[in-house]
Amino acid sequence: MQPIKIAVLGSGKGSNFRSILNAILAGQIKARPVIAVSDVPGAGMLTLAENLGVPTAVVEEMKYRTRLSEEVESGLVETLRASGAELIVLAGYMRVVKQPLLEAFPRRIINIHPSLLPAFPGLEAWRQAVEAGVETTGCTVHFVDSGIDSGEIIAQAEVPVLPGDTPETLHARIQEAEHRLYPEVIKRFAVRELL
Ligand code: GRF
Repeated sequence: MQPIKIAVLGSGKGSNFRSILNAILAGQIKARPVIAVSDVPGAGMLTLAENLGVPTAVVEEMKYRTRLSEEVESGLVETLRASGAELIVLAGYMRVVKQPLLEAFPRRIINIHPSLLPAFPGLEAWRQAVEAGVETTGCTVHFVDSGIDSGEIIAQAEVPVLPGDTPETLHARIQEAEHRLYPEVIKRFAVRELL
């Protein structure tokens, strides 16, 4: 079986991307990162990619903050197609995905979200969990659709909320769970269980 070609799309430091790269380098996942794309020039995830010789691209969007304009997203589709990516992995990508991208890669775009969806969609889900006073939260990997964190759920991991947790301490614990869960799910795509 050929390594699955993955594209990673993110806006931030890329700790999830790093956990995926580590799993690939350790031979736990047969995958090849073919491109790393960010909407934030200079994002940490781009540096990570460059250090490992993974091609990078930046999508520049001046018009909107929460999504890409149709022209820019169509350009992104071309970039992703040219990379040969079979699976688009969103890792801290802070914009809503629109039709050009969704139509180009049906059931081939996945995201990780720091809560047990459908609870706490949207921004700072860890803060929402602390404020709601729940005892358990977690993270979810799901297919991306046109809603916000609303696509079909693929896998979840639970994380306890401990007495005295702040949004920051809880976020750190959720991220540890993310770093285990995301590689496990990508492995299921790599062995074609989910493709
Ligand atoms: C993660 O907490 C993820 O759940 C959310 O964005 C964050 C990305 O972090 N979608 P990183 O850039 O992977 O460190």
